[in-house]
Amino acid sequence: MARRILLINGPNLNLLGKREPHIYGHTSLSDVENQARTQLASLSSNQDQEFTLEAFQSNHEGAIVDRIQQAAGWGPLAEAKGPVDSSSSSCFQKVAAIIINPGAYTHTSVAIRDALAGVDIPFIEVHISNVHARESFRHHSYLSEKATAVIAGLGVFGYQAAIEFVVKHLKFKD
Ligand code: DQA
Repeated sequence: MARRILLINGPNLNLLGKREPHIYGHTSLSDVENQARTQLASLSSNQDQEFTLEAFQSNHEGAIVDRIQQAAGWGPLAEAKGPVDSSSSSCFQKVAAIIINPGAYTHTSVAIRDALAGVDIPFIEVHISNVHARESFRHHSYLSEKATAVIAGLGVFGYQAAIEFVVKHLKFKD
């Protein structure tokens, strides 16, 4: 069965390419997502394992929490589709890895940190800019301590780096 990779982008990242291009560049979010799909398809054909991408963007903290819970078959989004027993041998496949750019929620959200820790899915935290070279309030992340890896300052190439790492190097639990 294909492994599911979930790409989450938080607030204002829907404006990628338009928003502060001197910091975030000129590539749009849909270009990033399409590139990630193409990259995963090509990596899959070179591995024994197939990978599929699910892309999600929201400006709302609770919506991101709901989407993270859904990745494990839990929470309101999963229940809307009918209850899922993720511990049974039903055909539900838990997301294998999450790549997340939480945007400004990086620096504020205990709720997103708790959701990621709760679902116990390995995640890579990505920042387009080098947050450590910017304002001091961007230096702290509520997520990094729980992340498998943190990428910052590589521009949108950071998403590609994260995908390649997940496919080629991440040790999956199953
Ligand atoms: C960001 C950095 C955050 O501080 C900021 O709020 C963002 C984007 C980045 O990708 O560099 O929205 O996560």
